[in-house]
Amino acid sequence: MPRRASAPRNVWTKVDRYFSGLLTPADPALEAALAANHAAGLPAIDVTPLQGKFLAMLVQISGARRVLELGTLGGYSTIWLARALPPGGQITSLELDPHHAEVARANLLNACVLDSVYLRVDLRVGPALDTLKALVADNAAPFDLIFIDADKSGYPQYLEWSLKLSRPGTVIVADNVVRDGKVIDPESPDPNIRGVRRFTDLVAAEPRLSATVLQTVGAKGYDGFALAIVVG
Ligand code: SAH
Ligand code: DHB
Ligand code: MG
Repeated sequence: MPRRASAPRNVWTKVDRYFSGLLTPADPALEAALAANHAAGLPAIDVTPLQGKFLAMLVQISGARRVLELGTLGGYSTIWLARALPPGGQITSLELDPHHAEVARANLLNACVLDSVYLRVDLRVGPALDTLKALVADNAAPFDLIFIDADKSGYPQYLEWSLKLSRPGTVIVADNVVRDGKVIDPESPDPNIRGVRRFTDLVAAEPRLSATVLQTVGAKGYDGFALAIVVG
């Protein structure tokens, strides 16, 4: 007989709300960004508030000053990352869809993180792979933290190019590597699953990376983050 899941999704959501209520208090700019995304028809696939704070804390713990994000959507995660930066910090965020980027630009402006004396967010519209190649060709300085969250089928190539934009100590975080547990199916025809599996194989085989995966449950279901550090 199959074992019943001990904590169904509605419990994950309630627990997410419980901790969010205590640890990520209401924030007008973040809430306005989600409302603007919804009004503009963007999919609600942003990180959750507790996950946004987790990303922000990774920036703080690592002391990152230069952040690269792949997949801006409406800039919700970008706002969390940007706010965690020290004065002089920079984020380069890559987005394929011009409509998403336009909504993100307005949200970032409203959150006062788009371009100030203290902080700069550079939004680059186009396929992430093209922009990564352009950054390498331009000899961009290495990034301190890279958040990979664009199309999952591209993750293997995003990892390869992210490494070229890294230095020992760079933190690489990839979202959505568990996908409701579907990641363990080696026969999956889903390009998202295949992308995430190939990504993980490359991480595992890469001597320059030390990595782990954190499975997550919450208001957005069951998924997980891969965390890697460039060690050499
Ligand atoms: N990081 C965001 C969510 C990103 S959703 C947040 O948590 O708030 C994934 C985004 O990647 C979407 O906006 C999608 O348009 C974008 N995307 C898809 N394919 C892409 C590609 N090839 N290059 C860059 N962005 C891409
Ligand atoms: C999808 C993409 C994401 O970045 C995410 O966090 C959740 C879902 C998607 O493409 O389905
Ligand atoms: Mg994601």
